[in-house]
Amino acid sequence: MGTEERKEEHIAAVLKKDVEYEKSAGFERVELLHDALPDVDYSKVNLKMKFLGKEVFPLMISAITGGFGGAVEINKELAVAAEKYKLPIGLGSMRAMLEGVEEESYLVRKLCPSVPLIGNVGVMQLSEYEVGRIENLVSRAELDAMAVHLNPMQEVLQPEGDTDFSGAVGHIAKLAERLSVPVIAKETGAGINKAIAEKLREAGVEWIDVAGSGGTSWSKVEYMRGGKPPGFGEWGISTVDSILMCKGVLPLIGSGGVRSGIDAIKAIALGAELAGAARPFLLAQDYKKLDEMVTEWIGQMKVAAFLSGCRDYSGVKKLKYELR
Ligand SMILES: Cc1cc2nc3c(=O)[nH]c(=O)nc-3n(C[C@H](O)[C@H](O)[C@H](O)COP(=O)(O)O)c2cc1C
Repeated sequence: MGTEERKEEHIAAVLKKDVEYEKSAGFERVELLHDALPDVDYSKVNLKMKFLGKEVFPLMISAITGGFGGAVEINKELAVAAEKYKLPIGLGSMRAMLEGVEEESYLVRKLCPSVPLIGNVGVMQLSEYEVGRIENLVSRAELDAMAVHLNPMQEVLQPEGDTDFSGAVGHIAKLAERLSVPVIAKETGAGINKAIAEKLREAGVEWIDVAGSGGTSWSKVEYMRGGKPPGFGEWGISTVDSILMCKGVLPLIGSGGVRSGIDAIKAIALGAELAGAARPFLLAQDYKKLDEMVTEWIGQMKVAAFLSGCRDYSGVKKLKYELR
């Protein structure tokens, strides 16, 4: 099966079927300490921060798609929302552009000129393509950073998956050394542990997106497409555990099962620099409710900050919480 067809199948599966983990990302274990007397004017709560040199709201649209006709509209609408609300945005895997199959869906920079736009390649593509080819993606799509996705679970369960991950960290190191923009390492929903975060830091990676379990389950997506062996639908490190394990190693993006602005604030309070989500943005785009969803989440983030006694991003970074 070609990359384009596979991407289309993934979108259809994620939109129509229940592809989420039954176990949670862990946010219900995190209780932010309620402040009954916040010394804050709610109308002045401002959560903007700097990410990749640009001022943004700390909620990222995680990598979703690209590389087939149907992705053009999705990425355009996401890019417009990213610009309107100052959200960093990740593109889906750029393999189709590397293979010369499709590129229009990735060329959205004009729609989101002021926010970080992050490219995406699979760690498996790094052994196939020279750094120069990845650099070409950076300049063509005008990217601020390149995410390398780590998806061993998806590859090993997929009928057509690439399963030789040996030496992958060396390819990441070569990319990080030579690429003109920072490299972000991201999981795709099964989380990253501390030892892997340290390995990635040694390889020259500058950011980690933990993309932990509790949200979209890529094993469940692959099972719908005939993946095997069964039994891995609930495999992975929860997002909360992954953030707690990896904080302090590198700056983190806390994603995977973030399902409200309250989860997003909790991810930041736990130690991530910003939060991210994928499937909720895709569903909202599909239902033509992107504005509604983003406004609601931003509102929740601001109210959660206010009710915890913070007026700005630096306050959220120091928030007190209880872990149950
Ligand atoms: C339809 C869809 C396609 C995705 N494609 C990619 C991809 O190409 N590259 C990538 O790094 N992650 C990809 N992801 C993974 C997400 O970026 C994210 O890490 C994961 O879905 C967990 O976040 P969530 O629970 O908010 O969906 C995709 C997710 C979805 C829902």
